[in-house]
Amino acid sequence: MDFRESVCERVFDALVRDFLSRHPEGTIVELGCGLDARFERTDNGRATWWELDVPAVMDVRRRFFQETPRRHFLSGSAFNTEWIDAVAASKPSACLVVAEGSTIYFPLADNLQLLANIAARLPGAGFVTDAAGRVFVATQRWHPQIGRFAARIPWSLPELLRAVHDHPSLTIDQVIDPLAPPEALGLPPLPARWRLAKAALSLLGPLGRNQYRVLHLALGN
Ligand SMILES: C[S@@+](CC[C@H](N)C(=O)[O-])C[C@H]1O[C@@H](n2cnc3c(N)ncnc32)[C@H](O)[C@@H]1O
Repeated sequence: MDFRESVCERVFDALVRDFLSRHPEGTIVELGCGLDARFERTDNGRATWWELDVPAVMDVRRRFFQETPRRHFLSGSAFNTEWIDAVAASKPSACLVVAEGSTIYFPLADNLQLLANIAARLPGAGFVTDAAGRVFVATQRWHPQIGRFAARIPWSLPELLRAVHDHPSLTIDQVIDPLAPPEALGLPPLPARWRLAKAALSLLGPLGRNQYRVLHLALGN
């Protein structure tokens, strides 16, 4: 299992569980869900789920996962507003939008527009996503996992933080290093190989520090 699956995914899952503990009948939206099984891992039997990906991927997803009255599938782009209108029309009591490893590959301006669109239509929603630091972005083509794919991350965490900071309806709640998650998330210790990797990287000083972060934003408050 790679870094994203064994280290980051569990932070996203913990944030979803935390949201559902506070809003058991809340709504989770998963943008760019791929074949992710977050519903299977974290559903509480009461929440409503919307899972979205581009049509070709949703066609594949439908072979492995089933829609139910509480679990809806949406085919389309995260950057369109149709899905936001569909979710808003369901009048969610509370909403958390999750985008793991999906919108990070799109331009910063598109991501900011996405956040603004959600803030306008689902005010009060939370947004959980990932971001990478400058060194990570500059060296991604040599990254053991990301480097294998054609897609590249076109912006870095400081740019996003600055833009969110300057935006009147976006707030940064948490910036989490998945190799050092806050105790409040109640996660078990990191798998041994990642504890070792973290210790080895720290020997390299600032350059070796993990630069990948999970962000929790508040939209439209
Ligand atoms: C690296 S995968 C991550 C999948 C899943 N979130 C996970 O963590 O396993 C990126 C996903 O983003 C989806 N994607 C790409 N462009 C998209 C768009 N415009 N709107 C929604 N999803 C998109 C891809 O089809 C793919 O399933």
